[in-house]
Amino acid sequence: MTQVIRSSAELRERVAAWKRSGMLVGVVPTMGALHDGHLSLVRAARAQSDRVIVTIFVNPMQFNNASDLEKYPRDEGHDLSLLEAAGVDVLFAPGVDEVYPQGFATKVSVAGISEPLEGAFRPGHFDGVATVVSKLFGMTQAGRAFFGEKDWQQLQVVRRLTTDLNIPVRVIGCPTIREEDGLAMSSRNVRLSAAERETAPALHAAMQAAAAAMREGTPVAEALDTARAAIAAAGFGTVEYLDLRRAESLAPAEDLSEPVRMLAAIWLGDVRLIDNIAV
Ligand code: PAF
Repeated sequence: MTQVIRSSAELRERVAAWKRSGMLVGVVPTMGALHDGHLSLVRAARAQSDRVIVTIFVNPMQFNNASDLEKYPRDEGHDLSLLEAAGVDVLFAPGVDEVYPQGFATKVSVAGISEPLEGAFRPGHFDGVATVVSKLFGMTQAGRAFFGEKDWQQLQVVRRLTTDLNIPVRVIGCPTIREEDGLAMSSRNVRLSAAERETAPALHAAMQAAAAAMREGTPVAEALDTARAAIAAAGFGTVEYLDLRRAESLAPAEDLSEPVRMLAAIWLGDVRLIDNIAV
């Protein structure tokens, strides 16, 4: 049975009792609207920890757009039934006042790696992520934390802050889970219309084709241009970025001589899709 805890004091007691018994605690931070991608993180957490906490908190501080925050899907009852079935020990679902009590005045800001890509198009987003993740690490006291590679830049930001702030948690990145047609699973996908849902997999297909072309020797800029044209032809809106970057530093990459990642953020109707793949 999954216990629902809303107060960090109660969570702290629960975790302290587990730790006194020598248990390793894993956490999966989420914003709810859970899908198979989240459940794959839960499976990884269960395999690598003795007790698993899933957090659900739609973090206002990381939304740079009020309507995105308002429209963010929420269904805690359904989420809880999925977590029960997945064998999660605790759902930590604090309210906004529990996370940001009156007088809250601290911001965690990770320079450099937060700045390009998502950081450029969503100003303040990663400050919100870094702040809430630091708080969730403090509140859960977990030894392991599981994040999806779908949010590749977020994963690098979380790794950086964990190292920089000496937080005693091991950050584990887990592969992106995709629908059968290649669309990366995301809580925002439920907002796609039927027609948009049909178009959506064309993003991953274009990225895969560009990656294959690069591996066969097509210059990076040319392969990315071809992908942009395919994405436009498929009916997508604005391409915010479609870029090749060094996998860890996210510095621009001109070739495949080091581990690289192709990352994209693209609008489809009023839904913003992000994706990334190794090349
Ligand atoms: O990836 C998410 O769902 C969120 O950015 C996270 C890590 C839970 C922080 O709010």
